[in-house]
Amino acid sequence: MVLPEICKSIEPYFMLSDDKLKTIVKYFCEEMNDGLAAYGHDVAMVPSYVPGVPDGSEQGTFLALDLGGTNLRVCEIKLFGENKFEIKQQKYKVSDALKQGEARVLFDYIADSVDAFLTDIGSDLTTDDNEPLHLGFTFSFPVEQTAIDRGSLLTWTKGFNAKNAQGKDVVLLLQDALDRKHIHVRCSALVNDTVGTLLSRSYQHGPALIGAIFGTGTNGAYIDRTSTVKKLGDDKIAALEAGGEHAGEYMVINTEWGAFDNKRRCLPASIYDNKLDRESINPRKQAFEKMVSGMYLGEITRNILLHLIDSRLLFDGNSSKVLNTHYGFDTAFVSRVEGAKDDAEVRTAIQSMLGVESQYIQAGDIELVRWAVGIVAHRAAYLAATAIAAIVLHTEPNRREQDKKAIDVGVDGSVAEFLPNFESRVREALKIVLGEQEKIITIGLAKDGSGIGAALTALTAKKALERKA
Ligand code: GLC
Repeated sequence: MVLPEICKSIEPYFMLSDDKLKTIVKYFCEEMNDGLAAYGHDVAMVPSYVPGVPDGSEQGTFLALDLGGTNLRVCEIKLFGENKFEIKQQKYKVSDALKQGEARVLFDYIADSVDAFLTDIGSDLTTDDNEPLHLGFTFSFPVEQTAIDRGSLLTWTKGFNAKNAQGKDVVLLLQDALDRKHIHVRCSALVNDTVGTLLSRSYQHGPALIGAIFGTGTNGAYIDRTSTVKKLGDDKIAALEAGGEHAGEYMVINTEWGAFDNKRRCLPASIYDNKLDRESINPRKQAFEKMVSGMYLGEITRNILLHLIDSRLLFDGNSSKVLNTHYGFDTAFVSRVEGAKDDAEVRTAIQSMLGVESQYIQAGDIELVRWAVGIVAHRAAYLAATAIAAIVLHTEPNRREQDKKAIDVGVDGSVAEFLPNFESRVREALKIVLGEQEKIITIGLAKDGSGIGAALTALTAKKALERKA
């Protein structure tokens, strides 16, 4: 099919040239270095105070809370050692009213959910002597962490905007809510989902270098030398290296790469991206995330399709209620079209998921929709690769022995799991940027990172407490 002229002008924003990819990686490395050197940068490079990755032998039973994905989850995790674990979990819906209302109400709801879990599902956890239960809190938002169980919220992302939380310690917000309700649980570890993914992948599969989420949002964590986190200052670095305070020579760093290029120096922002950003609840923030993650891929596609409709190039100029609605459809449509085995399946998806009436769907429309979906999915994967490549290049001089010959990346999230061709495109782009080095990279799904990671971090915190006692 010959694409309409309009498509030719859109494509360069989505089909990135090799040079463009390399330029983005260069800026990525720069922003990571800035975030390690000083506070207040977009790519925040948050120290997690987690000293390294587990080896699969860890054992114990822990409670975990997971906020920041599609649902709030409360879990009980049993680590059996030998890379094995078991999860008992319950999901709780977080309404938009809770996401955007008063933080106190949100945290009361979270505490109530912990209470409901302990009452309804029951827990095998028992403690002696009135000791509270230990809980690991996976809180998947940018937090400036100051200890394994301390951290203040920098900014909300992904549709959350609860009032009176920014700048506050989220562990205290949770602990106060638990205490108000006399729930005998102590939040002893705070962990980002990417850190959890890195730990979970390592627990199940052997030592990984990077943990990444490509889901509702996107972000990555990796292992770096503590001494590269210059913003901590020499004294703190020395104390950490001595192993006194949860860390040692190495530490897991949560990059918060979703905020990469908020200054818009290099990301290929098309008019569709600018429209999405302007109409979002966090304009000018999470620039990278808005091109890569599951919350936004449907919306970018919707903006392109509407432009084609309004130019009378698609569906004979007819739209639908779904297409006219902000966030009217999500990445599931992108995944469905990308995975469609024939045109009939695309046609069905257009009718059932976009609500376009059959009479308006012309022969060429199927190809045009496939094209729009294809370029959005392609760019998401290529950009995802730039983040991974930047970490690979950044860590080159400092990698632990085990990461020199093989680099393992644990991934989780709906885009990584359900978007067809995502991984093969990521690999394609890694090859362009890294050449031969791409061959030593393995990428594998690490499901349940948020739960297992929280449990493993709670274990680290517990051991440290025991050492102190
Ligand atoms: C957003 C959050 C980040 C999280 C990611 C994936 O980017 O800011 O903390 O890891 O989403 O859930």
